[in-house]
Amino acid sequence: MPVPLPLDRPIRWGILGAGRIAATVAYDIVRTDGNIVVAVGARDGERAADFGNRFGAQRSYGSYDELIADDEVDVVYIATTNPGHHEQALSVIAAGKHLLIEKPVCLNATDTAEVLDAALAADVFAMEAMWMRTNPLIRRAEHLVADGAIGEVRGVRAEFGLGKAFDPTDRLYDLDNGGGALLDLGVYCVTFARLFLGEPDSVDTVGSVASTGSDATAAMQWRFGDGREAQLWCSAETAAPNRGLIQGSTGWIATVGEFHRPRGLIVHHAGGEEVLPDPIPGGSHGYGPEIAEVDRCLRTGLAESPLVPHADTVATMRLLDDARRVLGVRYPGEAGTGP
Ligand SMILES: NC(=O)c1ccc[n+]([C@@H]2O[C@H](COP(=O)([O-])OP(=O)(O)OC[C@H]3O[C@@H](n4cnc5c(N)ncnc54)[C@H](OP(=O)(O)O)[C@@H]3O)[C@@H](O)[C@H]2O)c1
Repeated sequence: MPVPLPLDRPIRWGILGAGRIAATVAYDIVRTDGNIVVAVGARDGERAADFGNRFGAQRSYGSYDELIADDEVDVVYIATTNPGHHEQALSVIAAGKHLLIEKPVCLNATDTAEVLDAALAADVFAMEAMWMRTNPLIRRAEHLVADGAIGEVRGVRAEFGLGKAFDPTDRLYDLDNGGGALLDLGVYCVTFARLFLGEPDSVDTVGSVASTGSDATAAMQWRFGDGREAQLWCSAETAAPNRGLIQGSTGWIATVGEFHRPRGLIVHHAGGEEVLPDPIPGGSHGYGPEIAEVDRCLRTGLAESPLVPHADTVATMRLLDDARRVLGVRYPGEAGTGP
């Protein structure tokens, strides 16, 4: 098991990659009690220095290796594009550092399992940055369902569409850069459905592939032997309100706003309907609960978070592998390890 970090000093974060989500999450790290950004590594030293200045980091590096070697970093947040995650994560683990790694952890389930198993073997904490699972309203929905508030869960619907015009150089469409609707957006839909239904017995997938070879749109119909079902849809090219719905035998729970970061929950049950408000305070991007969960795990010496278990991360990736196989989407260099 990892050695618990002391309670009397802040968690020292190192940010690997100085891109868009890195800045969004770093903004919330420095607003979470007991957490500071101490270092950042990017491919370009000047950009790393600019990023570091924005978030009060004491050190910045023009390479990832220097960040990983920094002895005064407790946990590395990997925020690069998908193809780099596998090698970067294994390097962080080999250096004995804890790890929060952006979704998808890797391009496929095999690589994902390798990374998470390596972390366990090295006694370092590792967690997929599946912030939806740490969101207080999603956790509330889980408790309501477990308490029978909507009877037996019969189905789940989730959609995640960005409506981003096709651009072969955009990471969302660029196969060389791990692009595709399933890995970027479908990962949330699959995680959401698994939370309330578990593993499907069969899946039918249809979709379309962009000229770059990445999946532009995918729709999945899940079936279970007992009649439960899920309909999941994700699209890089088409916009949607991105709502989520959990359907029960006596009621339903719908997200207000996007299901991966709801602004409220509508709970409709036999006794009527109530709207649960968003408890996350304003002035943040909503990643505070994820950062607090990493903090809690590191200070208690957990190897993995019970909110984002390794097994669930790998199982989700298997379902995404299967969907990609149906659509014929394969990443460069994936032969032998891919779907
Ligand atoms: N949790 C969330 O809400 C959320 C939201 C969006 C994205 N994500 C995930 O976060 C990751 C990054 O997404 P992003 O939107 O932040 O991407 P981004 O801004 O396009 O890129 C992030 C970083 O990846 C590195 N990079 C970009 N293109 C590269 C290339 N062609 N080759 C090598 N490295 C490259 C760069 O690192 P340097 O700075 O070192 O140059 C860049 O700053 C993805 O895994 C994505 O799925 C998560």
